[in-house]
Amino acid sequence: MSHDAIIKVNEAIAKDALVDKDKAAAMRAEAEKDPETFWAGVAARLDWSKPFTKVKDVSFDASDLHIRWFYDGELNACVNCLDRHLPEKANDVAIIWESDDPGVDKKITYAEAFEETCRMANVLKARGVKKGDRVVIYMPMIPEAAYAMLACARIGAVHSVVFGGFSPDALASRIEDCGASAVITADEGVRGGKTVPLKANVDKALEKAPDVRAVLVVERTRADIPMKAGRDLYWYAEARDDVSPECPAEAVNAEDTLFILYTSGSTGKPKGVLHTTGGYLAYAAYTYEMVFDYKPGEIYWCTADVGWVTGHSYIVYGPLANGATTLIFEGVPTYPDASRFWRVIEKHKVNIFYTAPTALRALMREGDDWVKKADRSSLRLLGSVGEPINPEAWMWYYEVVGDSKHPIVDTWWQTETGGILISPLPGATDLKPGSATQPLPGVFPAIVDANGNFLEGACEGNLVITDSWPGQMRTVYGDHQRFIDTYFKTYPGMYFTGDGVRRDADGYYWITGRVDDVINVSGHRMGTAEVEAAIDEHPLVVESAVVGFPHDVKGQGIYAYVTLHATDEPSEALEKEIVETVRQEIGPIAKPDHIHFTPGLPKTRSGKIMRRILRKIAENEFGALGDTSTLADPGVVDALIEGRKNR
Ligand code: PRX
Repeated sequence: MSHDAIIKVNEAIAKDALVDKDKAAAMRAEAEKDPETFWAGVAARLDWSKPFTKVKDVSFDASDLHIRWFYDGELNACVNCLDRHLPEKANDVAIIWESDDPGVDKKITYAEAFEETCRMANVLKARGVKKGDRVVIYMPMIPEAAYAMLACARIGAVHSVVFGGFSPDALASRIEDCGASAVITADEGVRGGKTVPLKANVDKALEKAPDVRAVLVVERTRADIPMKAGRDLYWYAEARDDVSPECPAEAVNAEDTLFILYTSGSTGKPKGVLHTTGGYLAYAAYTYEMVFDYKPGEIYWCTADVGWVTGHSYIVYGPLANGATTLIFEGVPTYPDASRFWRVIEKHKVNIFYTAPTALRALMREGDDWVKKADRSSLRLLGSVGEPINPEAWMWYYEVVGDSKHPIVDTWWQTETGGILISPLPGATDLKPGSATQPLPGVFPAIVDANGNFLEGACEGNLVITDSWPGQMRTVYGDHQRFIDTYFKTYPGMYFTGDGVRRDADGYYWITGRVDDVINVSGHRMGTAEVEAAIDEHPLVVESAVVGFPHDVKGQGIYAYVTLHATDEPSEALEKEIVETVRQEIGPIAKPDHIHFTPGLPKTRSGKIMRRILRKIAENEFGALGDTSTLADPGVVDALIEGRKNR
């Protein structure tokens, strides 16, 4: 099948789907005509301890920016994910845990998840955590990570999950920024047969962030680790059994904070994206059901990590709010071998599978046999998230993994959006490989040129959203001005996504990637400024500039131009040291693929680095450098090109 094929909605799938073409059209029309009624209907899927009477209070005007949804209502997110399913689903499986070791797994019912969560909530309370307090969660992919999030929600505390691959320094800066008083972690994580020293990392981080009073340590490997008396507490050995298996849930206002999640921007340090309870949960629940066409009893697996927003919305909150069975996978796609994903699908009879293009590209390289030798007959829907999926990877996913039978939902969204905004609906949307297709009902994207003029019809430009949706972030924690400046100043009156996009003649959206200084490496979002700051920590580095470049597996790789003190000589050893510095400052995911030592960077006379030129050179596109006449020293460019050719 060619890459510009259109794959029409399968009639049999449409017949069983929650939403077919007619229903989707009706929903779109309703959301356009009367958004408040539409969204009130969406939020009615939640249990409210005090029903809301106000639906929406939003202004995207930078001088009066505010976003509130369902704002006189009260609810509890944990109750919506667990308690309310108990009457009918106490013995249904809430979580399937597949450990790193293919021989070890576990099934956890809703009743069990409820009890574990209540116990953890009681332990937090006993350690002085109260409503509004921040709790950092630094965990491997084990069920206790979900309990930790839900336990915070249960008592009205705010969780901030930090990806277990981040370094102690990166962890410390997040703990400090959100002012966390407690940390939940594990002794060690296990990934691909290797251990990750999570508790040791926490100990190092807390040297820099001494305000943390309590560290709850879940025993994963039972490694011998130092515990600090009065501060550290083992979950199983010391805490869990000492508290009640029941814990009353704190009803919170819809606009009370549910969580903070740090994400990279084009400038400065990572920002704490803040999501509130009512709108976020309603949106995660609604989009989960719509996009994955979820039906009771089905087994759903999202391969993301809970340290990213995908793990929040589509491993924990979205699925559990729908009473689904969600699979939590601790390992990696290639351990013990490249058949792991497909073996897990076979073993647990997974119906809906949601992963990232980078994983697909890596597995595609290993050949089709790894896929074909596993029984994938349980599958009925495939999903993609995190970065643009190239048509080749899309076709491989469709033809090899899905045997050309199952729709692929390519879901476009962001940490900031809380949930999916642009995606096919499996029973309603004809598919085009590589396109996220169309906005969900109630979502209003538009494309603007550099001056903010709306572009109509088939066009290419910058992606904005013209009106709010309930899952939208509310602020940057501790820095509301940064929220306004980052998202609402570029194009006044609109939310600017930072993404470029093309719209074709059928109105289909094709995300082209970031248009700002954010890069997307293996679906991990990174600010070039952040990586530069890490590189600059090396004592011999004077200056650096980081850009993304196309990478076959990672989507984008990290290319770093580095200037040393005049007296220092580039060397392989120095290159390794610089890479190590980045690993320590941020974590392994930020390690540059290339270090290009250069005596100078292309700067304008006012001292601004011309990144456009650096991007082109990193891409090996020397003919398309554009105007270089404004450079202070145009000779730098030739030297850079020479250096690139010699690599
Ligand atoms: O550039 C877009 C890309 O990932 C960015 C958001 O990254 P993050 O906040 O880490 O959230 C990732 C998981 C939702 C976006 O600005 N992106 C995400 N999904 C897609 C995508 N690009 C193209 N197609 C997608 N489906």
